[in-house]
Amino acid sequence: MADKKNDVKILAIESSCDETAAAVVIDGRDVRSNVISSQIALHTLYGGVVPEIASRKHIEKINQVITQALSDAGMTLDDMDAIAVTYGPGLVGALLVGVAEAKAIAYAKKLPLIGVHHIEGHISANYIENKELEPPFLCLVVSGGHTHLVKVQDYGVYEILGKTRDDAAGEAFDKVARAIGLGYPGGPKIEKVSHEGDPFAIHFPQPKVADGPYDFSFSGLKSAVLNYLNGAQMKGEPIVQADVAASFQHAVIEVLVHNAVRAIDEYGMDKFAIAGGVASNQTLRCAMEEACKKKGVAFYHPSPILCTDNAAMIGAAAYYEYLAGKRDGWDLNAVPNLKLGER
Ligand code: KG4
Ligand code: ZN
Repeated sequence: MADKKNDVKILAIESSCDETAAAVVIDGRDVRSNVISSQIALHTLYGGVVPEIASRKHIEKINQVITQALSDAGMTLDDMDAIAVTYGPGLVGALLVGVAEAKAIAYAKKLPLIGVHHIEGHISANYIENKELEPPFLCLVVSGGHTHLVKVQDYGVYEILGKTRDDAAGEAFDKVARAIGLGYPGGPKIEKVSHEGDPFAIHFPQPKVADGPYDFSFSGLKSAVLNYLNGAQMKGEPIVQADVAASFQHAVIEVLVHNAVRAIDEYGMDKFAIAGGVASNQTLRCAMEEACKKKGVAFYHPSPILCTDNAAMIGAAAYYEYLAGKRDGWDLNAVPNLKLGER
């Protein structure tokens, strides 16, 4: 019997970093449940994600999260048509928990197994609430581990136009937040205090990469913030946390928008999307929306809960992989440094 194309119910699992998540998604865009067990409170104690703790917590939570996702959807494993799981990139020990679980369920229930690229998941989060969105479009993926400007040529077909040469955008948010005493996770905290700060109070250099028009570099910006803090301390000048946060956020957003607009101009695309944890930043969204409006380009973004790590986005990506005939074997393994577009 040929694989069906409609009413395809996928149980998706995500455990690449510090969220244990499961979701039931029908035909890639109809999310019936989306359960996320966040470990943030646990890792906050250590100022960042501790890989061993993440793996242990995933093992503890994964069955509970899957049971909840099925129950929220009002379905059982017998209703599913495929099992999808993030197999990279991410923390190897964390990924392994999801991959082993997905393999066990797929084997026991004789269901197809589909390994999904985490970044493809972030990009696909845009399909869930924008039913009309179809490739081709440009997508800026900004998360804790990745900063990619991607041309989505078709479902599952990506051309990477640019990426970070060093720190990811979210990583820079996290490091600067730590330096100014805001703690982990930095992104939402910097966004919050920035509302009380002046984005033009301090001029931080806008990081640009000379030989890669679409590449990013955020470690220089992070160093500029650290130098500013040290300088002010040595001179006995007061440090206004909200001004530092707002000025840093402004510098990151400027460069993200700059590269995005350049790509829109060069590739003549009429659709632009953002994805990943940093895409939940309201100031970034407004700046991108404004830039797209000026260019007459349609702007797409997922809701904040679909920007940060979740399994609904993995279910969305998996549906298109399923249609393309992708099926993984029992040898599917976690690939911590999996590249986008690799199989
Ligand atoms: O996509 P994500 O949940 O995990 C990865 O795949 O990395 O992204 C997490 C990153 C963290 O670095 C976090 O600080 C950042 O996204 N983030 C934000 C915001 N919310 C989360 N950065 C800026 N503004 C936010 N509101
Ligand atoms: Zn992510």
